[in-house]
Amino acid sequence: MNRTVESGKTLLVDGPASVTVVSGKVKVFGSVLRNGRKVVIREGKRLPFTVEEATTFDISLGDNANIEEVDGNTIPSSWIKAYEELLTLQMKPVTAMVLGTVDSGKTSLCTYLTNKLLNEKQKVAILDGDLGQSDIGPPCTIAYTFVTRPITDPFNIEAKNAFFVGVTSPSKAIDKVIEGLVSLKREILSNNLDFVIVNTDGWIEGEDAVNYKIQLVKQLNPDILFCIQQKDELASLLNALEKRRKVIVDSPSAIRQRSREKRRSLRELGYIKYLKNAKVQSIPLSWLKIEENEFIGLSVTRGNTKKAWKIYELLGMKPLRLVELRDKICMVIGRSRWLHSDNIRKVEEFTKKKVVVVRKGEEEGLLMALYDAERKFLGIGVLLEIHYRRKVIKIYTPVSKDVSMVAIGKVKLDKNLKEIPPAFTEENQSNSTTFKRLF
Ligand SMILES: Nc1ncnc2c1ncn2[C@@H]1O[C@H](COP(=O)(O)OP(=O)(O)O)[C@@H](O)[C@H]1O
Ligand SMILES: [Mg+2]
Repeated sequence: MNRTVESGKTLLVDGPASVTVVSGKVKVFGSVLRNGRKVVIREGKRLPFTVEEATTFDISLGDNANIEEVDGNTIPSSWIKAYEELLTLQMKPVTAMVLGTVDSGKTSLCTYLTNKLLNEKQKVAILDGDLGQSDIGPPCTIAYTFVTRPITDPFNIEAKNAFFVGVTSPSKAIDKVIEGLVSLKREILSNNLDFVIVNTDGWIEGEDAVNYKIQLVKQLNPDILFCIQQKDELASLLNALEKRRKVIVDSPSAIRQRSREKRRSLRELGYIKYLKNAKVQSIPLSWLKIEENEFIGLSVTRGNTKKAWKIYELLGMKPLRLVELRDKICMVIGRSRWLHSDNIRKVEEFTKKKVVVVRKGEEEGLLMALYDAERKFLGIGVLLEIHYRRKVIKIYTPVSKDVSMVAIGKVKLDKNLKEIPPAFTEENQSNSTTFKRLF
């Protein structure tokens, strides 16, 4: 379908859709689209095509896609001012951090600032700290990349390196998110750059969120903060960040809010993208360094120490695997084995740690990350099975390079790469009410 839009108007396109510029002059978040350029808009995303000279588009719309023409530019004037302020900063490299709630326009502001900077021949990196709605790198990771050409959607560019967190919500992995961002920022800064644009997750309301964001700002120490406000949702955070250089910007009114389901299905597009061409691989456990985990982890007991034998005796059985972590004892038992709660209590008294019992098979579907010997992120995979007796791990992954280290996440995927909601436990129950809206 061809459509011509007058200058001074904006064409809003809700995906899934593809739009080709036939003729005219048009921008998306500050990126000028050449004639013949095709832009794909994912389901759940909306792109504003800001028409500067009458433009003809060739548009294909998928199911539930939509187009709408509006007057003027939907990029708020406060974003233009924010960019101007960013340019006034003299020190190089400049680190700018974007803060805002879910669906406030964080990704779009990062895209806009990056494009504007690239138009000025600046060297720019984007560090994406939004786990739940990752733009760069797979879902549940933090990632960065150097952007060399203006972009319409950072989802289309490949990550330079990533740090796997393994959950979709930062509330469950505050320290890890901060650790990942700090280490990736350090890596970015070892390159010659002018600007680092840091995106963050949308968890900003409530005391825990505010404390987390304060920590994040402290550790990453950005030179400037761009805070996107819809109403007054950032009030307590802004108060706490009083001494920081910051610019408060508007959330575009043309923004499209997404339901939790939409956010999940956008994430699932990420799993599909990063698991394309995956194959089943069996790797001996002895070849791998495994990040501390309930299913494998570093077993201090090695099955034969005095302590392990005492635990087996108290349990009245020998589990498939016994793992002692900092704060708990984890054991993996066969699918149909049964453990008496009295015996578990005895082990807890003996070890002074909480006992967590997992069943063989429960590991199936867990999202994981694969790294090389230098801890460079190679990609994600889905854990299919840990064979405790044969001591091999079966992973569904597109990674074909030598894997030295793996990290196992908490997110579980089914065979169609859809997220399986976590089992209903007390812990999840209290979390789910607070975070339902967010992730
Ligand atoms: N100025 C704008 N005009 C129209 N749509 C916009 C504008 N800014 C953002 N959007 C769209 O609104 C949706 C939410 O914005 P996004 O930047 O993804 O928010 P966040 O990263 O905070 O979740 C996206 O589909 C985005 O493309
Ligand atoms: Mg985003």
